[in-house]
Amino acid sequence: MRKAILAVVAAAAVLLPFAPPAQAHGSSLRDAAPRYLRIGSAVAGGGHHVDQPYPDPFPNDREYRRILAREFDSVSPENQMKWEFIHPERHRYNFGPADAIVAFARRNGQVVRGHTLLWHSQNPAWLQEGTFTKAQLRSILREHIFTVVGHYRGKIQQWDVANEIFTENGEYRQENIFIRELGPGIVADAFRWAHQADPRAQLFLNDYGVEWPGVKVDAYETLARQLLQQRVPLHGFASQAHLSMRYGAPDQLAGVLQRFDDLGLATAITELDVRMDLPVTDEKLATQAVYYRTVLDACLAVDGCNSVTLWGFTDKYSWVPVFFPEEGAATVMWEDFRKKPAYFTVRDTLASAPRHHRR
Ligand code: XIL
Repeated sequence: MRKAILAVVAAAAVLLPFAPPAQAHGSSLRDAAPRYLRIGSAVAGGGHHVDQPYPDPFPNDREYRRILAREFDSVSPENQMKWEFIHPERHRYNFGPADAIVAFARRNGQVVRGHTLLWHSQNPAWLQEGTFTKAQLRSILREHIFTVVGHYRGKIQQWDVANEIFTENGEYRQENIFIRELGPGIVADAFRWAHQADPRAQLFLNDYGVEWPGVKVDAYETLARQLLQQRVPLHGFASQAHLSMRYGAPDQLAGVLQRFDDLGLATAITELDVRMDLPVTDEKLATQAVYYRTVLDACLAVDGCNSVTLWGFTDKYSWVPVFFPEEGAATVMWEDFRKKPAYFTVRDTLASAPRHHRR
């Protein structure tokens, strides 16, 4: 009897390497992904959720947390590390909600993307409406970066240091209080301070509207070259990839990412969602799946593209219907967590990706 069992085990050991990849790599997104690619999700809380008729999602929804742990190996606080949330008063920080996400990630073998340090939006009133000298504003930003990045030192894989700093015309965004008051040179300082506070974190530029080539991408490439030439610790360039089916699928995304890869930078997709005009139809769901696949394929085609993050995985908590009237259904799961065609497409694309990375 024992001999028979041994024979079966031996036969299985011989046969196993020939099992087809989709089965061999389990049934969650994180199991399906090759080891060089992190698959992530935003963690719902704060921001638009505050005005919705449900309690704060991450702390209150157990099923949500269970799926977040099962499906993803990277998480991004959707709002909990933004200035208005984590630094609500000039001399008070609110680390609790982000700490809970970082602890959850640690328990579940997930990395964390920090979001974000230098942005024009979701800043607290004390900052936006205060009257500060240039020197004060500079030291406020410096202190914020040292405090927040230092608090999570060693626990953040990637930081979106600078978020959405260029307009559609490739000009520095003057709505950004730091850029307006201190000039664009502040971007380099933000990267230097973040690097001093956590030398191991990969530091990123992050924006939307960079999924196709154009003046905005050109502006980022010029900036990236300048920063690298000045030996500023810039490590990556990320495309948010908030897509709408009103426009075509981003079939030139790999080419854009490759331009930054060629500079020696890592690349990432940080906020992927694909919204459609309501009502939903089967045909639209099939098209949506193609958009998701196009984005994953772009990242998989570029050597240094090392993570793809979905901006939420369920329509239950998506920001899309709140911000884009008439559009919705942008994530890979319905409100009750049933999986859409896009979910299976993402999983199959990950499962059939090459297992070994190029660099
Ligand atoms: C969004 C959040 O999803 C909302 O909850 C919040 O109310 C507004 O911000 N680009 C970004 C993200 O970098 O931080 C934004 O997140 C979506 C657009």
